[in-house]
Amino acid sequence: MTFDDHLAHLTALDFPLTGNTGKVRTLIELARLINAKPGLSILDIGCIGPNPLDFWRPLFALYGGQFQLTGIDPDADGIARTQARLHAITEHPVNLIAGNGYDLTRLFPDQQFDVIVFTQVLEHVFRYREFLTQVHHTVQPGGDVLFTLDSGHYPHQRWQDSVKGILARLGREHHYEHGWRDDELNPVLNDLDFSVISREFYCTTPSKRLHNKYIDAAQKNDVMRLWFAQEYAYNQHITFDETAKRQFLILFYHVQRANH
Ligand SMILES: C[S@@+](CC[C@H](N)C(=O)[O-])C[C@H]1O[C@@H](n2cnc3c(N)ncnc32)[C@H](O)[C@@H]1O
Repeated sequence: MTFDDHLAHLTALDFPLTGNTGKVRTLIELARLINAKPGLSILDIGCIGPNPLDFWRPLFALYGGQFQLTGIDPDADGIARTQARLHAITEHPVNLIAGNGYDLTRLFPDQQFDVIVFTQVLEHVFRYREFLTQVHHTVQPGGDVLFTLDSGHYPHQRWQDSVKGILARLGREHHYEHGWRDDELNPVLNDLDFSVISREFYCTTPSKRLHNKYIDAAQKNDVMRLWFAQEYAYNQHITFDETAKRQFLILFYHVQRANH
């Protein structure tokens, strides 16, 4: 199946996809990986958020039963609530664990996953080097890591972020929220011997606002197909300087652990 086939299948579902093209990019990559190797073990770090496991709904609909999902989140109440209503989200088993991404090697001393995913989590992680080191230990050699985050290139000017930054430096990072730039992440990924397969920019602000606020639910997937295709094309053709990077809200990464 081609990249376009996956996009067509995802946007043909009878419920609207997420309103974040970076997450759609992640869904396409996951669909490719699941097709290439049915039975994949996948770890989703930070799986709760406002809509627990919602990200997985399209993949449960298309490939339910063809991958084994484990989800962790430090929000223990959210994990318990999601466990209690798991049957309403999917008929497929999901292993849900209350835990922090900083503790992966303690949580999974004997297990390494084929794929690790974390969408919109890294902007809440102050010690990202430590977090990514844990991810590196917990993915199989040769395994894939997919993530999206708020881009640190986007010129947000939120005074609250500075306060949260000071609190994080004092060891209270619970409310931390600050995007990272690719020039901050790339050296860490290199040091860990991850190869960067893709680093792409998604979600131009006006398109995101128009799609999410002004398009009827029934039309959202048709608009998403065009919006995503346009932003994917930007990533194929733009030579990203700082001005170009600043137009996008979200960074997407696909990295691979070295095979040794
Ligand atoms: C914005 S939500 C994203 C939820 C989901 N991944 C999504 O894309 O819809 C951020 C999630 O990351 C979790 N989180 C924050 N810091 C974390 C950490 N250090 N390790 C694991 N999860 C974390 C939060 O509890 C929250 O559920």
